[in-house]
Amino acid sequence: MPKKFTERILRAPVAFTFRDLILLPGLAEVEPGEVDVRTRVTTNHELNIPFVSSPMDTVTEAEMAIALARQGGLGVLHRNCTIEEEVEMAKRVKRAESFIIRDVVTVKPDQTVGEAIGVMREHDISGLPVVDDRGRLIGIVTARDVRFANPGLKVRDVMTPSDRLVKVSEDITLEEAKRILQEHRIEKLPVVDEQGRLKGLITVKDIMLRDRFPNAVRDEEGRLLCAAAISPFDLERALRLDKYVDILVIDVAHFHNRNCMRATKKILANVGADVIVGNIGTYEAAEDVITGLEGVAGLRVGIGSGSICITMEFLKAGSPTLFATAQVADALADYGADLPIIADGGVRNPGDAALALAMGASCVMMGNVFAGCKEAPGEMVAIGGRYFKRYRGMASPSARARRHAVDRYFSKRIAEGVEGLVPYRGDVASVVAEFVEGLKAAMGYAGARNIRELWEKAQVAMLTEAGVKEAGPHSIYLPSQEPFRSW
Ligand code: XMP
Repeated sequence: MPKKFTERILRAPVAFTFRDLILLPGLAEVEPGEVDVRTRVTTNHELNIPFVSSPMDTVTEAEMAIALARQGGLGVLHRNCTIEEEVEMAKRVKRAESFIIRDVVTVKPDQTVGEAIGVMREHDISGLPVVDDRGRLIGIVTARDVRFANPGLKVRDVMTPSDRLVKVSEDITLEEAKRILQEHRIEKLPVVDEQGRLKGLITVKDIMLRDRFPNAVRDEEGRLLCAAAISPFDLERALRLDKYVDILVIDVAHFHNRNCMRATKKILANVGADVIVGNIGTYEAAEDVITGLEGVAGLRVGIGSGSICITMEFLKAGSPTLFATAQVADALADYGADLPIIADGGVRNPGDAALALAMGASCVMMGNVFAGCKEAPGEMVAIGGRYFKRYRGMASPSARARRHAVDRYFSKRIAEGVEGLVPYRGDVASVVAEFVEGLKAAMGYAGARNIRELWEKAQVAMLTEAGVKEAGPHSIYLPSQEPFRSW
């Protein structure tokens, strides 16, 4: 008779991975083009596509977050930096476009033209409202005003004064603003209150961006949706970011930990943003979050499947993303908790994404895929005529050297991540387009018209080792095949 330990082995569940399963084709009543991939990332925020980028310092800084939100997804700003740097990234995302810009960059009338030019360059903007010490609008200075001006002059000498400006109040509608901008052939429309204090700025550029990215996800003020990673033990960072972001992501490798959960309670009690917690990997972890942490708005799920992770191999600990997703989804269903799951780690292609969604996820998070995009931090690297971008695990030795995210992992000494290069994939828009099209096709095979229907309908089958080989190209010589080929 098996004894206790033998029993444990014999009863061990199969921790299935993306490579083990396939989606079985189902009766399709819609064509792939009609499949709806809209989803939720937290209880309060919807996305138009179910793709989220990882909070990693070679993946998501402001540029990636802006590009992805414009496509309808979400970038989670990494935290391997100072609080000021992360807040600055969040501000950049929020400033990237909006109907009324609230966080307006201004100058004072007695600053010099040289200083005003510096401010415009630093923030990459072409005009600055000029305000007095009481915040009242007294003019606007634009790039045109300063182009050939003596840099030593004062801003008040070159600005267009307030009495010659068209101004509007805060209750203006988008259509009215468009009409006024057109009628006066102007680029900028300051928003002021009854006392003449500057309350915001409307620009032609922002209004045009709205039309250019119809799929973008925005907050109620028309600014791009923004999420940022935090440590559960850094309340100050949480509070500072809470002023700017819509979503805070508690970012630890193993969230199912008493200290993490205790510290998260404090964060939940003090912030207004939606809070996603993770990573978790088991039914029990989901159970403890559901029953012990009130106010959580989403779960980040999967431990050890990431392409840069060595936790499962080196520490023999983890819960593969697909298995973890199914576990957590079952716990949510059992407790009647309607929380979105973000399946995180190991997603290489649209089929992996479809599988994660089929097993109960609402979104997938990708590091590797987005690290190869133009908008990921860092330069392209050319090797042997081919282009790559750097990608590193947040527990890799070089990421740890920056030290701001070391508390993501237990051990200060053991590297749980690697670093290397990923092939350059072009811009986020084209990568997303390919993933959305592939996902719709996979959902079409499964016969699902949207993600909720996929949860209900999807049937999967397990591949044998021979099946995994058969699933890829075989019995053919592929001269272009690369050693790291991921599809
Ligand atoms: P992919 O497969 O998209 O996975 O590259 C990205 C996810 O991997 C996690 N991550 C790590 N996991 N060691 C780990 O064990 C690391 O150094 C590391 N860095 C990131 C993280 O969940 C990310 O979203």
